[in-house]
Amino acid sequence: QRHLISAADLTRDDAVLILDTAEEMARVADRPIKKLPTLRGRTIVNLFFEDSTRTRISFEAAEKRLSADVINFSAKGSSVSKGESLKDTAQTLEAMGVDAVVIRHGASGAPYRLANSGWIDAVVVNAGDGTHQHPTQALLDAFTMRRRLIGPDAGIGQDLAGKRITIVGDVLHSRVARSNVDLLHTLGAEVTLVAPPTLLPVGIETWPCAVSYDLDSTLPKSDAVMMLRVQRERMNAAFFPTEREYSRRYGLDGDRMARMPEHAVVMHPGPMVRGMEITAEVADSDRCTVVEQVANGVSIRMAVLYLLLGGNEPAVTHPRTEEK
Ligand code: CP
Repeated sequence: QRHLISAADLTRDDAVLILDTAEEMARVADRPIKKLPTLRGRTIVNLFFEDSTRTRISFEAAEKRLSADVINFSAKGSSVSKGESLKDTAQTLEAMGVDAVVIRHGASGAPYRLANSGWIDAVVVNAGDGTHQHPTQALLDAFTMRRRLIGPDAGIGQDLAGKRITIVGDVLHSRVARSNVDLLHTLGAEVTLVAPPTLLPVGIETWPCAVSYDLDSTLPKSDAVMMLRVQRERMNAAFFPTEREYSRRYGLDGDRMARMPEHAVVMHPGPMVRGMEITAEVADSDRCTVVEQVANGVSIRMAVLYLLLGGNEPAVTHPRTEEK
């Protein structure tokens, strides 16, 4: 593949290759010098039209660890506020000779448009578009699950066949849920979505997953439980669920976590709203992988950029590519 736009575009073998490459990249973080020369001389622009903490910082860390030249662009403070279009912004970047564009945009489909418009030649990586897709989030989540549920070494070459993953909350507005359902299905996992009926999209019955409205009965049958934030910024205020009612039915607290099998983990893509979808007790527990997910995000993004831009260069563990 030339671009990474959607988790649905990845085959099982593509996804396992990315996860295995991320395991190699994770070893770089354990070294005194956390850098590889792989993308020396390549320029990557991080084009963020929507707010981000984790994705923006971890793409930047991944690019710098691969020795790329990094340009950060945020719509706030740019000529986008003067009405400049995506096309003109993209062509400005093209004129500067960028090799890859990592794009986050509020409009679903913006990365696809950029990749298929002919406006630029650069590789395009989707860092989250509207309510559509967030493929590197799904990959880092799968990487975290494989490490926790199978193990870093035992997991090499493996998918998530038979693992039972429950995704809970605002599925309607969640690109994380869409990407995860696509990727987890490709990797052989059994996914159950748990959400209020008002926070499920039309056509949910065509998704490759089960749907439940009862969190308590789903928790004991879960190997991983992924909590989603209620995305008020994408909702009409009239449709906000009340915090107390939402937490009572769909929030994860210590009592509910105790219903999960002992080996099962709690995940969250962040940002978390403590007290709404997750209590502080659960968020701070050893079973919660939220901080691990952020660290794994750097390894996954290094793997994606390496595979898309590194060409036929040797694998990162080859001595010739190691930083002396
Ligand atoms: N998980 C995620 O995409 O977080 P940010 O919005 O902070 O990047």
